[in-house]
Amino acid sequence: MDLSSYFELSYWDYVGIFIILLITLYYLFAPKAPEIKYEPKPQLERMPKQDMTLEELRQYDGVESKRILMAINGRIFDISRGSDFYGPGGPYEKLAGHDATRALAKMDAKMVKEEKDDISDLTPSEKDEAKEWEMTISSKYPTVGKLVDREEDKSDYSGALSEITLSGY
Ligand code: HEM
Repeated sequence: MDLSSYFELSYWDYVGIFIILLITLYYLFAPKAPEIKYEPKPQLERMPKQDMTLEELRQYDGVESKRILMAINGRIFDISRGSDFYGPGGPYEKLAGHDATRALAKMDAKMVKEEKDDISDLTPSEKDEAKEWEMTISSKYPTVGKLVDREEDKSDYSGALSEITLSGY
């Protein structure tokens, strides 16, 4: 048998080998898409349950402290996990560390008050709106405690940690 004729390659054989070579080179040297690494945001420890005065609440605005709290209808929530919403530069940053009842009832973040807010002037439908928000937020974020006027109004939670609860404190 004549080996040279055995290995003799036609024009199309060369084209095929060339294409296979190109594909191999492409897979070997093509720039790789950058690997996207998903880094979950580090979560804060659950906060011990506690009642707070407005002054105390105000410290948890995501600027002074990483922890972000917000009150609705006198109930304080730990909304730190929602820092994209409430943290500095977020769309709802004004609510952080504040009583957000009026702002949510009226759907206007500018309505947030710096001092104690008396919400008795809200209409029944605004109060319903605030209640709905309280329910929504309570299903997503831990309840920390009550917003109180005076130190002596604070309850003792015996070191229990805040948790997500629909029903109350
Ligand atoms: C143009 C107006 C607005 C648009 C398009 C908008 C859009 C949204 C969207 C897409 C979400 C996320 C819902 C989800 O988690 O699936 C959200 C959440 C929220 N919005 Fe708005 N919003 C607007 C105005 C407002 C205003 C004026 C307020 C109150 C002052 C407000 C308070 C909130 C709150 C408290 C949340 C819940 C965030 C969380 O899950 O912690 N929004 N909004």
